[in-house]
Order: sequence, then C-alpha cells, then structure tokens
Amino acid sequence: MALAEKILRLKKEKKAIILAHNYQRPEVQDIADYVGDSIELSGKAMEEKEAEIIVFAAVDFMAESAAILNSDKKVLLPSAGARCPMAQMLTVDEIKRWRVLYPLVPLVLYVNTLASAKAYCDVCCTSANAVEVINALDAETVLFGPDHNLAEYVQEKTGKTIIPIPERGFCPTHLLFQPEEVQVLKADFQDAVVMVHPECTAEMRKIADFIGSTSQMCRYARENNAETFIVATEEGLLHRLKRDNPSKRFVLAYEGAICPNMKLNTLERIYMALKEERHVVTVPEPIASKARKALEKMFEITR
Ligand code: 13P
Ligand code: SF4
Repeated sequence: MALAEKILRLKKEKKAIILAHNYQRPEVQDIADYVGDSIELSGKAMEEKEAEIIVFAAVDFMAESAAILNSDKKVLLPSAGARCPMAQMLTVDEIKRWRVLYPLVPLVLYVNTLASAKAYCDVCCTSANAVEVINALDAETVLFGPDHNLAEYVQEKTGKTIIPIPERGFCPTHLLFQPEEVQVLKADFQDAVVMVHPECTAEMRKIADFIGSTSQMCRYARENNAETFIVATEEGLLHRLKRDNPSKRFVLAYEGAICPNMKLNTLERIYMALKEERHVVTVPEPIASKARKALEKMFEITR
C-alpha cells in the first residue's frame, strides 16, 4: 500500500486530522485535511471538535500555538527538529530588557515566536493581520518582534512608531529575495504581477504589486486576471497556487527560496509520528495560559 494511503487509513483509525502550512512539500499538502497560512491554521485548530489528534505539518511555533489553543487534544509535530530560526531570535531575556526600557509601551509579538516569549506580550499577530492588530491598539508607539521587516512594513502602513525587538530579527528564507531577479523576470513576463511576503526586505516591498501573507497571496492570485505572477515567498506556496489556478503561470522570484525547517516534515515522518503518537507538543502552565490570552486577544481584534 502506498504511504499516503497508509497515512489516510491510520488517520481515520486514530481520529486524527492533518493541518499543513502552505510551505509544506507538495505530497504533504496533498494528504492534509487543511492547508493554510498561520492564522488560518490556528483558527482551524481552535474550531476542531471531532479530532483527538492534530498532526501539525509545519514548524515548532505553529504546533505550539495549536497545543495552547487545544489543551484537550494531542498535537504532534512530525519532525521534532522543525524549528523556525526567526522564532529563536527573540529570547525572554531580550523581551525583559526592552520592557524595562519602555515600561508603558505595549508589546505585540508576531506568532513566529516561542510560547515562552508570547507569555510576555500584550497581543499576538500574524503577517495577515499585523496592521489591523496595531491599528486597534490605543498607543502611538509599539514594541514589536521578532521580524524587523514586518515591523518596518507595519510602521509604513499604520504611521505609528514601531520599535523592533531584537533590532534586526529576520527570516533567512525571505532575505534571499532581492529586486535584481524580479527585474530580470519582468523583462520576460512584462505584464506579470509581483506578490511579496512582508517578511521580505523594504527593497522587495517597494517593487511589489501586492504584499500579504501566504493565503492572502492565494486569494489575490485567484481574484486577479493577470496571466503570470512572480512570487516572493517560500517555494512551497507555488504548489497550491498552481493547483488552484491551473490556467495561470507562477514563477518563484528566487530559485532556491526554501525553508529547510518546513521541509523536514516528510510523509515517512508523518506516518511514524501518527503510528507511534510521538513528538507530542506540550506547553507548560502558566506559560500556556498567558500565551493563550495573547492569541485570543488577536482573534478578538480580528474577528
Ligand atoms: P504566513 O502566515 O504568511 O503563512 O507566514 C508564516 C511564515 O512563517 C512566513 O515565513
Ligand atoms: Fe520561519 Fe522563515 Fe521558515 Fe517562515 S519561512 S518558518 S519565518 S524560517
């Protein structure tokens, strides 16, 4: 029996669901019950009533959020080593240092942070709702971490003063995108539309026709009549874009823009994780309840 079939059978037996991020390998996306961006996946994890096990094909911080929002379910991360390097860039000590410097300024954390960091913030956000969350705060100055590119983008959009913590947190995969490749591609595809993730640099945002989260890009591509789309985000998204829009062309803005951590989840690891119910993600109290409040506040604002 093919591995994909074995996973589907086991999933049914164990009352499990598989949630996969848009950057997962094509074969992983194809067996998932739901594929989405970080806010959609958290929302799905929260809505889920029937399943006893959630297999979260993504990286550490996303699975942690699912575990925080679903304390009655077993959340499995198929590859225990799948860690977002940007989330590791903001430590609790660093947060405390900034909190002392700006005791009255609210702290907003991108969901790409560990639960231990989330426990210290006022509210979380994702790339899809960062502008809305910051606009909703009754404050003109905001501490924001860990992505300084997203911080800069939010400052441009809201006109508020956004203080990035740490000073230069970044996503190594999105840093690979630079305007030169896009300029060369534009010569070949003159009417192409350029979609850029807000984790990219300011130079990339400047040449974008659309800036948004991975699922916002999917929506934009579906609704836009252009024939060709140049895409500046991790290459896994192209599988979904091509599947949903077979008559349109999608070109990656930098060959090799891969998040190695996202790619650690293979069908073999999903199968073994489900079979042995291993790599259970747990977040200890009181960290979980504090981080839950920050995530719930985000949902309240964006509901
Ligand atoms: P999205 O919320 O846009 O899916 O982004 C998550 C992420 O990790 C981007 O690198
Ligand atoms: Fe983290 Fe970047 Fe990978 Fe997203 S693409 S999970 S931000 S390293």
